[in-house]
Amino acid sequence: PRSLPAVSPPRRAAASSQSASPPQASAGDGAAPRPPPTEVPVPASYLEANEHHLGSLAEYETLYNQSVADPDAFWSTIAREFYWEKPWPADAPAVSWNFDPTAGPVYAHWWKGGRTNICYNALDVHVAAGRGDNVAFFFEPNGDDDDGRRRSVTYAELLADVCRTANALTAAGIRAGDGVVTYMPMGVQLPTVMLAAARIGAVHSVVFGGFSPAALAARLAAAGAAVIVTTDGVGRGAKWVPLKAAADEAIALAAAEYGHTVTTQLVVRGGGGGEADVPMVTGRDVWWDDALAGAADTAPVVWVDAEDPLFCLFTSGSTGAPKGVVHTVGGYMVGAATTFKFSFNYMPGDVYFCTADCGWITGHTYVTYGPLLNGATQVIFEGIPTYPDAGRLWAIVARYRVNILYTAPTALRSLKRAGDAYVTAHDTSSLKVLGTVGEPINPEAWDWYYSVVGDASATVVDSYWQTETGAHVIVPLPVAGLSLKPGCAQLPHLGIVPALLDDNGNVVEGEGEGNLVIARPWPSALRTLMGDHGRMESTYFSRFPGYYMTGDGARRDADGHLWLTGRIDDVLNVSGHRMGTAEVESAIVGVPSVAEAAVVGIPHEVTGEALYAFVVLMPGVEGNDGLRAAITAELRARIGPIARVETLHWVGGRGLPKTRSGKILRRLLRLIATGGGEGDLGDVSTLADPSVLDELLGRPVA
Ligand code: WTA
Repeated sequence: PRSLPAVSPPRRAAASSQSASPPQASAGDGAAPRPPPTEVPVPASYLEANEHHLGSLAEYETLYNQSVADPDAFWSTIAREFYWEKPWPADAPAVSWNFDPTAGPVYAHWWKGGRTNICYNALDVHVAAGRGDNVAFFFEPNGDDDDGRRRSVTYAELLADVCRTANALTAAGIRAGDGVVTYMPMGVQLPTVMLAAARIGAVHSVVFGGFSPAALAARLAAAGAAVIVTTDGVGRGAKWVPLKAAADEAIALAAAEYGHTVTTQLVVRGGGGGEADVPMVTGRDVWWDDALAGAADTAPVVWVDAEDPLFCLFTSGSTGAPKGVVHTVGGYMVGAATTFKFSFNYMPGDVYFCTADCGWITGHTYVTYGPLLNGATQVIFEGIPTYPDAGRLWAIVARYRVNILYTAPTALRSLKRAGDAYVTAHDTSSLKVLGTVGEPINPEAWDWYYSVVGDASATVVDSYWQTETGAHVIVPLPVAGLSLKPGCAQLPHLGIVPALLDDNGNVVEGEGEGNLVIARPWPSALRTLMGDHGRMESTYFSRFPGYYMTGDGARRDADGHLWLTGRIDDVLNVSGHRMGTAEVESAIVGVPSVAEAAVVGIPHEVTGEALYAFVVLMPGVEGNDGLRAAITAELRARIGPIARVETLHWVGGRGLPKTRSGKILRRLLRLIATGGGEGDLGDVSTLADPSVLDELLGRPVA
């Protein structure tokens, strides 16, 4: 069980021989790079070398039509493949819903009244079926395993660890429905805690280890969690991140600012590849090993309703505090497992590797739940793609003969920049599916992924979805007969009924562009926002009653394929991480001499989007390096290192461009930030004071 999976013979002998595209110009030979292709068929070599859940585009269409014609029957057939302690009522529809807030409260329920447990379906079911010796996780540490931490964990071992953890959580007072926050590095222990919480019906809230103490404090309070699990620290790249110290600060802040008490902090010693001397608070802090000492390696399953909450994950919106997106057990389970299987054409025996951290939705659905529900073997990676060098991911692919890779465009762009040699030094011929997520992938990065990493023998799956959708929504499914279009997410997933609406709410038929909405419920849809159902209705359902509004724009081409065109609201996307303009702006305004700030996103070669901040200072204050450093520090403290301003624009006394009602005209700021000039400004008649533009554009001010 601890050995590597059986190695299959390489699928292709020589690199590039069957490439559909002309050979890649190598860096430095003076040749102009060839333009990326506009259409590439799903590679024949991929189709021939693999078994398929969906044999062709026509098969997809048949299944898709079934899924929307009778969602109840379609999804219930799939749901019955899972273990239910108590089936949902036979005399009630599997799904009931309302997406129109003018007609009553918004809701979607799937299999309400049925009782199940996602942890049981992810672990116990496989062990009971004799698959306990299959590897669940190959753990790859940060760096290159200098200290011998590389290990594998089988399904049986994982189940035992999850049970011990569940018992420790129960001993800490956690009961079904209670919140548990984790603030941990990426590694086997994090999904272990998630699954343990799920096993006892508790609601996990994973907070990404890169968030600051202030951000963690707000999430602890909003999640109402009395228990937090953290780690002394973690090595990320060459840096040491002191998580326990940050968590201590967060617990104090949660008490001071929100009156929220954390009673128990479980601390994993050495969980992040090093040990730090961390002070422990008596009565509150407990070493993980002590909490688990003597804990039994079996634990009862708490059967919960399909509509009971499974987790709450905070994400950024255009306004206000982060939103706690709540997913429930039954629908999320079915959605996560089904999309994993079909999007990646996962087959038993495949080795899967997703580079996302469990701090984000991708790590929830496509590290913890989707793969384990399918009994898959996966690599879980603590580190970053560029450490110790830009070959790290490709070395991992070669070591485990990874078949399915799932990563982000921002990682691909930075690795592409490092040069093809990092890829070609490793054998990546095991790859069959190349997934991406987080933002639209630019055709150049797509082409590099396809031609260099996949050697034109693997298919690219550009998956569009959101924390709120819980699972894939629009994807170029890996099927025969589909022409892949770099940068296009293409096809609605099973059961997804997308629509484009113009700004007046009229449906855009055929070719055209509009607000991307979803017209019908799907199993893994968010159910509410933590503690604020009204905000859920107003954010996603009130602008276009009857539809779930994604907040993204999309275009439908002549083939009916969907291209995501970016956010239509004030949500920024830096390296695939969502950030609200309001969050960033309120942090900047937290610096004493700042009067006002407005932040827009500008295109960035590696991170996709970067922050460009317009900052208005208090009268008499001049912008300088000290202030810049203060702003950087404030952003780090309030949000975390991911909130890094690329360009600071000190705005003079006339201030920001606003309408008469005081609304900042972000459209104009975006134009200025991207170097737009006078000719591009368009209609500026709504400006309260047109002379602000003179100042912003550096024109002589009247
Ligand atoms: C963007 C991440 C285009 C989009 C799973 C969405 C994408 C937001 C893609 C959700 C993609 C994600 N193509 N845009 N393949 N994937 N997005 O909640 O703007 O962190 O609304 O979920 O990322 O980000 P979130």
